[in-house]
Amino acid sequence: MAAQLVAALVLLLQLAGASGHDGGFIRQVTDGGSRAWPGLLPEAQFAAFVRRHGRRYSGPEEYARRLRVFAANLARAAAHQALDPSARHGVTPFSDLTREEFESRLGLTDVRAGGERLVRGSMPAAAPATEEEVARLPASFDWRNMGAVTGVKTQGACGSCWAFSTTGAVEGANFLATGKLLNLSEQQLVDCDHTCSAVARNECNNGCAGGLMTNAYAYLMESGGLMEQRAYPYTGAAGAYRFDPDRAAVRVANFTAVPAGDERQTRAALVRRGPLAVGLNAAFMQTYAGGVSCPLVCPLAWVNHGALLVGYGARGFAALRLGYRPYWVIKNSWGEQWGERGYYRLCRGGNVCGVDSMVSAVAVAPPPP
Ligand SMILES: *[C@@H]1O[C@H](CO)[C@@H](O)[C@H](O)[C@H]1NC(C)=O
Ligand SMILES: *[C@@H]1O[C@H](CO)[C@@H](O)[C@H](O)[C@H]1NC(C)=O
Repeated sequence: MAAQLVAALVLLLQLAGASGHDGGFIRQVTDGGSRAWPGLLPEAQFAAFVRRHGRRYSGPEEYARRLRVFAANLARAAAHQALDPSARHGVTPFSDLTREEFESRLGLTDVRAGGERLVRGSMPAAAPATEEEVARLPASFDWRNMGAVTGVKTQGACGSCWAFSTTGAVEGANFLATGKLLNLSEQQLVDCDHTCSAVARNECNNGCAGGLMTNAYAYLMESGGLMEQRAYPYTGAAGAYRFDPDRAAVRVANFTAVPAGDERQTRAALVRRGPLAVGLNAAFMQTYAGGVSCPLVCPLAWVNHGALLVGYGARGFAALRLGYRPYWVIKNSWGEQWGERGYYRLCRGGNVCGVDSMVSAVAVAPPPP
């Protein structure tokens, strides 16, 4: 046991050092993931994966190549399991994609450590919640229970996470303002929004090649609003501009940055303003299959995915050594077959995977009387 512990420590220190980023941090030390893997060979697991997800490959060569990728991802899942013992890592709908292919499908403009600067520099900051307000916050909270969140959507092979994060925040803000939950259009953003950041002119929204939620809010304020999904449905590829301001269902009034790096402020904003757009480092998400993810090393400098924060809980799990951990509930845009029916639980406190570093809230204009 002691030898394993030392080995785990050395591995962690190497990983943290290798990342070369100040944002890298070591969260806890465990005696390693001892979870047994199913005794099936990768070939058999891959065959089951292909059946389950209805995969069609171009021929035997492609099949063999995907099998190699799949086997490598099984090994990666085992490594993630050791570094993230409170979550379950294994086969996911993305197990036949290389890491590069997977990352190219995320879609948050690569702002590296600039996320905080971007959010702060380009938009008004929300007034921080007071200590009293924070003290009065409920121990757990979930906007799904209040009907403020649409079902889980699927971005597909398009780096449009930023559009889904944006529509989720606007859907929630519209619910708060009107009591109605509308299914809003990501495709309008993918096709029509080419807004660049006010502080970094080269960081522009660019369809399936990535974008930023804060740019998208600025676009929505200027364009005249956001159409409903049924009027402007998602295709998963960038297409021609088809926005019709007369058919906008929701108008955006303003947006604000939530003070970065402080989970209490994030919680207060969530309860007060509705579901929030967040950026996070998705490094552990390709293999995530459930539980509360609390990676030992997950640099906040590599925030590369946009998603929607919808709730939080106080007592997530009781893994042997870790005890109960508070967590965030995050709506993703990778379909219901991924994660916990499309959701990710990430441990709360300590800005794990940068989840508190790029948080924004939006408000919609009240409907005309
Ligand atoms: C939103 O609308 C699309 C198109 O009608 C539909 O396929 C999808 O299931 C809807 N999603 C939600 C979350 O209601
Ligand atoms: C944002 O818009 C909402 C709705 O119109 C309004 O109530 C609120 O005061 C505005 N906030 C800011 C910071 O302008």
